[in-house]
Amino acid sequence: MKHIILRMKHLKLLWLILLFSSLVVGCSSEKEAEEIKILPEEQNVTKIINEELVTVTDNSFIVTWESDSESRSIIYYGETTEKMKGYVCEDKLVKFHYCEVKDLESGKTYYYYTMSGKVKGEPNEFSPGVVTTLSPPSNEFIFSFASMNDLHFGEEIAGLITVGGRKLNEGMKWPDPQNPHWSFMNRAAIQEINERGADFVIINGDITSEYKEDEFQKAKEYFSIFKMPYIPLRGNHDRVGDNPEDYFVKVFDLKNFSPISGAKYNIDEYGQVYISFVYKGFLFIGLDSSDLKTGWGKLSDQQLDWLEKTLEDNRDKVTIIFIHHPVVSQPDDLLGQLSVLNDTSSRNRLLDIISKNEQVKAVYSGHTHRNKSNYYKGVRFSEMASVKDYPGGYAIHRVYKNGIMTNFYKTRCDECRQWSTMGKNYEFFPNLPAAQYIMFGNFDERNFVVKW
Ligand SMILES: [Fe+2]
Repeated sequence: MKHIILRMKHLKLLWLILLFSSLVVGCSSEKEAEEIKILPEEQNVTKIINEELVTVTDNSFIVTWESDSESRSIIYYGETTEKMKGYVCEDKLVKFHYCEVKDLESGKTYYYYTMSGKVKGEPNEFSPGVVTTLSPPSNEFIFSFASMNDLHFGEEIAGLITVGGRKLNEGMKWPDPQNPHWSFMNRAAIQEINERGADFVIINGDITSEYKEDEFQKAKEYFSIFKMPYIPLRGNHDRVGDNPEDYFVKVFDLKNFSPISGAKYNIDEYGQVYISFVYKGFLFIGLDSSDLKTGWGKLSDQQLDWLEKTLEDNRDKVTIIFIHHPVVSQPDDLLGQLSVLNDTSSRNRLLDIISKNEQVKAVYSGHTHRNKSNYYKGVRFSEMASVKDYPGGYAIHRVYKNGIMTNFYKTRCDECRQWSTMGKNYEFFPNLPAAQYIMFGNFDERNFVVKW
């Protein structure tokens, strides 16, 4: 009898909990279905431009856009176009909007549109108004890490193209010389990686603009903000050139630097610096693809011998390689052809080594400042866009037992949003609006899953 009374009491309690929770859920969904009231100060918006669907993970998506007058950032989304809920992504008045929708289901299609004031954003080729969240490779998530490339500490002018010392264009500058673009873009990327969380960060080259010692010093000072270990790699802008010593090695003290347990830099006779480490059963390799004098893409024979041996000794470990110069490009891709690892003999040997080691599942590069992917014998070779200008950001890689999910994120600081838009609108050559078509990348070059 006592048991029955207790059960009755429990049932009553359960019923009360259910009633209360259904009321709460009911209230919140009703509120969500309401039209969001437009504030008087938002009335001046007449158009929304530059809308881009940037990041799509397995449970979130990010849209950025610009309004011609200040307003809050509002997005409506739902599983059907009939039933959408409004969400104020940021309760501050801005012209450059950044909206992250979270807590979604994986592999599910959602419809969305943006709102600024009374103006509704229209779908376009870079933001189609419909998005399917990624399906992770499995439920067995293991860890995540981040990557950044093309940071260009100390760069005075962005987007400048010179041939033989002759300027082909004017380039662009942030108006406040006290707060240059490389400073706020890198600071924001570092802070956001800290916020999003990652076990370590790979800095995939072009840390500096002019391979100066004080640029490396400044970068090291900024990297000290990281809450996790970071692994710096060299890019062509970090070459030794005519300097009396290798400031990359000197400033980061790479002869003694061991950012992660078991990680040790190798410095060969040619001066190239490379590293490998095993993390939670996965092998990571960071190469040095820059000729020390010229920055031209080249790998020393010694480095390739080391790579061959390292892969041979770790055949049982899934391997991910980072290298500044892209390794694969298509004949009709001019930027790819100009940027690919220049020395054909080392490129061919590298491709041969990779194709003989099936445990190599993904190769990440930078250098081109764009999101782009190519395949060689089934291996995905991905170029990730730069930190320092359009689209401007970093990548988070989520590693699962049988695959990796990579997402590119734009930085979201106020200056970052405006600078990214300036870069998008910047024309490298007259009448060639190249940035959005070349640098932003296709959807699946910013957001993808590699399975193994
Ligand atoms: Fe580069």
